Amino acid sequence: MHHNQVTFEVQPGGSLQGEARVPGDKSISHRSIMLGSLAEGVTEVTGFLDAEDCLSTMKAFKAMGVKIEGPQAGKVTITGVGLHGLKAPLEPLYLGNSGTSMRLLSGLLAGQSFDVTLTGDESLSKRPMKRVTDPLRQMGASIETTDQGTSPLKVHGGAPLKGIHYEMPVASAQVKSCLLLAGLYADGTTAVHEPAPTRDHTERMLKGFGYPVNRLGETVSVQSGGTLKGCAIDVPSDISSAAFFMVGASIAKDADVTLRHVGMNPTRTGVIDILKLMGADIEIMNPHEVGGEPVADLRIKSAILKGIAIPEHLVPLAIDEFPVLFVAAACANGKTVLTGAEELRVKESDRIQVMADGLKILGVDAVPTPDGMVVNGGPLGMGVVESHGDHRIAMAFSIAGLRASGPITIHDCANVNTSFPTFVTLAQRLGLEVNVLGGES
Ligand code: S3P
Repeated sequence: MHHNQVTFEVQPGGSLQGEARVPGDKSISHRSIMLGSLAEGVTEVTGFLDAEDCLSTMKAFKAMGVKIEGPQAGKVTITGVGLHGLKAPLEPLYLGNSGTSMRLLSGLLAGQSFDVTLTGDESLSKRPMKRVTDPLRQMGASIETTDQGTSPLKVHGGAPLKGIHYEMPVASAQVKSCLLLAGLYADGTTAVHEPAPTRDHTERMLKGFGYPVNRLGETVSVQSGGTLKGCAIDVPSDISSAAFFMVGASIAKDADVTLRHVGMNPTRTGVIDILKLMGADIEIMNPHEVGGEPVADLRIKSAILKGIAIPEHLVPLAIDEFPVLFVAAACANGKTVLTGAEELRVKESDRIQVMADGLKILGVDAVPTPDGMVVNGGPLGMGVVESHGDHRIAMAFSIAGLRASGPITIHDCANVNTSFPTFVTLAQRLGLEVNVLGGES
C-alpha cells in the first residue's frame, strides 16, 4: 500500500477520560540532537520524541559522523564531536517533512568547511526557504535554492561568515535559530530582532550547554568562540501534542483528562490562553522546572466554549495549534475570528484553506481569509475530509469526531508519524473511537 493511503475513521460522540503523558517536545528534541552533536563530551537525552521528524535530524548528524545511540524508550546518547568535528556526508541529507530540520541545519551547515545538499519530501520542497537563505547570504554564506526559493538547498562550505544584526520580517523561531546557529561560526556578534516573541528553546538550550546568549529587549545575540559542553536534557511533553486532548476534553461531554509533564515554556502556551478566553476549564497543577524548561500537569474538563476574537499577540505563541483550535471554534457558541496568522498558509499544508475546506464538508460555517479564518460555531456533521498529508490537520479532524453527528473519515494520515506516532493508541485509550485503515508503506 502506498505511504499516503493511511486513513483514519472516527466514530461520533464518546468522551475523553483518564491520564496520559503525551510524547516529547518536537522542537526541543531536534535541538537536543543538534547541540549534543556540536558539544564536547556526552549528552544524555531522556523523553526524546521518537518520531519521523526528529529521526530525520538524528540521521543527518549520524551521516555527518556523530555517534548517536537510541532512541530507546525515549533515551538518546550523543557523543559530541565539538563545533568543528562534523564530517562531510556522503550523500544529500534527506529531511523528510521536517521544516525545523532544514531551516536550523541550513544555518549550522553554513559554518562548516564542506558542501552539503538538503532535500525533503513533497511538502517540505514547497516551503519557503528564502527566509533563511537571504539573511545567511548577508552573513557571507554561499547557499542556493531553486528559482522558487525552495529546497533542495545547496550549502557550500568554507565561506567565512560575519555576524549581522537582522530584523526578522516574520516572527519565526526557525529563522531566529538558524541565524543563531550560524552565529556560532561567524566573526563578531550575530543579533536577531524578533517582531513578536517566538519559541526560545534554542536560546535556553545553548545556555544549558554553557554557551553565552544575550537578550536585550526583543533582540537576541551570540558571539562565536565559545564551546558547548555535553549535558543531560529531560525533554518535556509536547504542548502541541497535548493541545489535541485539551481541545478534545473541552468539547466532549463529561470529559476529565489529566496530561502529565507538559512543557509550559511561555513562548508556547498561547493555546492555553486562547482556550481559557473561550471558556475552557484548564487547571495547571504542579508547576516546576526541568533542565531550564517549565513543565506542569494539566487537568481539562468539559466546558461550554464561546467564540472570541483571538488576540493577535497570542498567534506566534500558538502557531502550531490552530488546526485544532479551529475545531474548538466550530464547537463554540458564536463567532471566532482569527487574524494575523498568514504564516499558517506556509506550514506543512496551507492550514487556513485545508481546515476551512474540511470544516465546510462537516457543515461548519468556516470562511478563510488571507490571514486567518472566521468560524461560526454550530453543529458538526459527518463526512470525508482530506488532511493533505499534514499531521496536525489529521489529528485535529480526529478530535472533531467527539462532537460529530456521524463518522468522519480522514485521508492521507501517514504523517501523523512525523510528530505523534502514538496518537491513535493514546486517543483510543482516553476514549476516542478512532481506527486506522491501511497503513503499511
Ligand atoms: C518551530 C518553529 C515554528 C513551528 C514549527 C517548529 C521550531 O515555526 O511552527 O513547528 O522548532 O523552531 P516558525 O518559527 O517558522 O513559525
